Amino acid sequence: MDSLSLPQTNVGRLGCGLRMGATEATGATGATGVLAGRVAVVTGAGRGIGRAEALALAAEGATVVVNDLGTALDGARERSAAEDVVAEIIDGEGKASANHDDVASWDGAAHLVDQAVDEHGRLDIVVNNAGVLRDQMCFNMDEESWDAVIRVHLKGHMAVSRFAASHWRDRAKAGEDVGGRIINTVSEAGLYGGTGQANYAAAKAGIAGMTVALARELKKYGVTVNAIAPRARTRMTETVLGDFGAPPADGSFDEWSPDNIGPVVAWLASEHAAKVSGQVFVVIGGRIHLMSGWDMVGEIEQGERWTVDAIAARSGELFGDRRTGIPTMGFGR
Ligand SMILES: NC(=O)c1ccc[n+]([C@@H]2O[C@H](COP(=O)([O-])OP(=O)(O)OC[C@H]3O[C@@H](n4cnc5c(N)ncnc54)[C@H](O)[C@@H]3O)[C@@H](O)[C@H]2O)c1
Repeated sequence: MDSLSLPQTNVGRLGCGLRMGATEATGATGATGVLAGRVAVVTGAGRGIGRAEALALAAEGATVVVNDLGTALDGARERSAAEDVVAEIIDGEGKASANHDDVASWDGAAHLVDQAVDEHGRLDIVVNNAGVLRDQMCFNMDEESWDAVIRVHLKGHMAVSRFAASHWRDRAKAGEDVGGRIINTVSEAGLYGGTGQANYAAAKAGIAGMTVALARELKKYGVTVNAIAPRARTRMTETVLGDFGAPPADGSFDEWSPDNIGPVVAWLASEHAAKVSGQVFVVIGGRIHLMSGWDMVGEIEQGERWTVDAIAARSGELFGDRRTGIPTMGFGR
């Protein structure tokens, strides 16, 4: 497996001025980056982490289709911010176009993939990032909040992956060396089980499992599939976790900036990570944690069907020195 040394990022070279109404342009920035000539789709990239990922991919030379439906945090519709991010990329002399499809519908996802291929000739990288939050304790959970979160995250990740995979399979069958990339977005809430987030935790844990399944399915077509669990200051975390504090006034490293997530996604999208697949990483500030999924950590066995009494007698052996109660959150620092 490759080391975790990150390629030099060009993000700092991107300008932040806006040019509303522009939808596509070409330029020299990132022409020699690690993603030069590659075409990427980033979902939910109108703000927050997705925006930072789109800027990082563009700075490394990728042409980026910036998708954003334009939804408020609870899923209600608002004006799309995708054009703003496209304008930022263009002002940095990168290449980008906007897309406003709902990624959680098969039609929307198919149209998004088609747009990348029609406008830019190919698709190489999918960053599934779009998401909404509807936190409720389980005893108050309403059906609409359950469905909305499962739909946007779990179905939204699958829908775009499904049509990108179909595109890559066709290219692989035509003899092309595809090198496709899917980078999914999970959450520590899904890996550890966040309180008040049964819908969100279920969706994110589902995406973690789906990441490994897709990695297995697409290996023969030259496609890697990985997931990140980011932590950053965005509108999503401001309402749930507070604002992580303001960025340091002295300009020192801002641990909670969403911009910290971009280079990790660019690395996974690059040739440097060609042998990395089916993996989940927690990304916090300057830290990258490699996570391990469900592992067998204890076993008891007998040569006949268990009885309740027999299990009770040997359950201590099954758990060993491990806790029998709720697992720790494992949030680290
Ligand atoms: N911010 C964190 O610390 C954190 C932690 C763990 C996981 N995440 C995950 O990172 C991702 C990005 O989160 P964020 O904090 O940047 O949130 P955000 O609310 O700032 O951005 C999410 C974007 O997704 C878009 N979106 C929602 N539904 C969509 C749909 N159906 N189709 C297209 N676009 C849609 C929204 O319009 C919004 O612009 C999410 O998947 C989130 O669950 C974030």
